[in-house]
Amino acid sequence: MSATAPAPEPVAQPDSGALLSVRDLRVSFRTDDGVVRAVDGISYDLAPGQTLGIVGESGSGKTVSSLTALGLTRTRGSDISGKIMFEGQDLVAMSDEDLRTIRGNDVAMIFQDPLSALHPFYKVGWQLVEAMQAHRSIKRSAARARAAELLELVGIPDPKRRVDQYPHEFSGGMRQRAMIAMALANEPKLLIADEPTTALDVTVQAQILALLSDLQKRLGTAIIIITHDLGVVAEIADQIAVMYAGRIVERGSTQEIFRRPQHPYTWGLLKSIPRLDAPRGEELVPIPGRPPSLINRPSGCHFHPRCPYVQESHKQIDPRLEPVSGHDGHGVACLLEPSVRERIWSGLQEGRDLDALRRIAAAGQPAGPVATRPTGEPTP
Ligand SMILES: Nc1ncnc2c1ncn2[C@@H]1O[C@H](COP(=O)(O)OP(=O)(O)OP(=O)(O)O)[C@@H](O)[C@H]1O
Ligand code: SF4
Ligand SMILES: [Mg+2]
Repeated sequence: MSATAPAPEPVAQPDSGALLSVRDLRVSFRTDDGVVRAVDGISYDLAPGQTLGIVGESGSGKTVSSLTALGLTRTRGSDISGKIMFEGQDLVAMSDEDLRTIRGNDVAMIFQDPLSALHPFYKVGWQLVEAMQAHRSIKRSAARARAAELLELVGIPDPKRRVDQYPHEFSGGMRQRAMIAMALANEPKLLIADEPTTALDVTVQAQILALLSDLQKRLGTAIIIITHDLGVVAEIADQIAVMYAGRIVERGSTQEIFRRPQHPYTWGLLKSIPRLDAPRGEELVPIPGRPPSLINRPSGCHFHPRCPYVQESHKQIDPRLEPVSGHDGHGVACLLEPSVRERIWSGLQEGRDLDALRRIAAAGQPAGPVATRPTGEPTP
């Protein structure tokens, strides 16, 4: 299958009222095997104190899109374009030096890989002190006292003793909390939490999410929470962006995404939310098929090889993210007619079988030869 050129979207001006306004962000990596299009034209806004959930399977570009905000994908093999406006400054265009003053200060990240945030050879308290002193002039004794306060804030018992312990003396859940403390050390305006609960058991997961939510209320921090699990963001996020193959294929308020999901991939994610009441091992319904290669992406709609409702024309036409009529802020990139999507979603909720749902998709298509719109042309 051939890769298709990215569909140009009418890109709105950055939102000046937003804390973070991302516009047409593209990140690709030149490798020996070809160009990896990790992030391919994403746009979103995040208001101060709000939470955005970025959801998608492994390799959909969630981490790369966020690392780019911190300048951490600037390597010799990478190409980055678009805008990431943070408080009126473009983080994409900013010098490395200026970015360093923002990173860990106004914008902080809880990394997906815990080892990249906590150094195994240094005491946790010492690392917190260093994080604070890197960005402000604060006496060591005051920073140490603040380090203990931070550990207390994230719910670590006996914080005065714990500051003098090494990361390996902490349990998995406590290390995660220590990482949150580290990220909060300088009271960031934006906190990016990359899979903050994946390695944890369900009870600790719930505690960490409650902690983030509580800290947000108290400190007014805006949060981007990255996860492959829609269930994780259901409680905590105001907005959700669903990513597939480097693009946002659906976005909207959390309520909209759960009440009126529009994209077949989102339907799949919703079905794969782990259910606490399901017998162990039976709770997950994975989406059949594998994530696509980002070097040789499927033609047309990149989701088409895995989509149960694909029509011939969808293999040639690359859908753009279009507004869902009548539902402010809700957007979807799918070529099915809105009324057809609505009927399929209703059918899915009623438990109708897949063949019946496929017939709804096929009946909704125009009869006769399909009039194709070449990839990249604006939708009429
Ligand atoms: N430095 C790099 N060089 C080449 N390819 C890269 C680089 N960094 C990331 N990628 C590729 O970019 C794609 C997106 O990666 P990313 O880490 O953003 O995915 P993700 O959605 O966070 O996945 P996961 O859920 O597994 O964390 C992947 O195919 C990954 O292999
Ligand atoms: S455009 Fe077609 S293939 Fe793509 S998600 Fe919609 S129905 Fe599926
Ligand atoms: Mg990731």
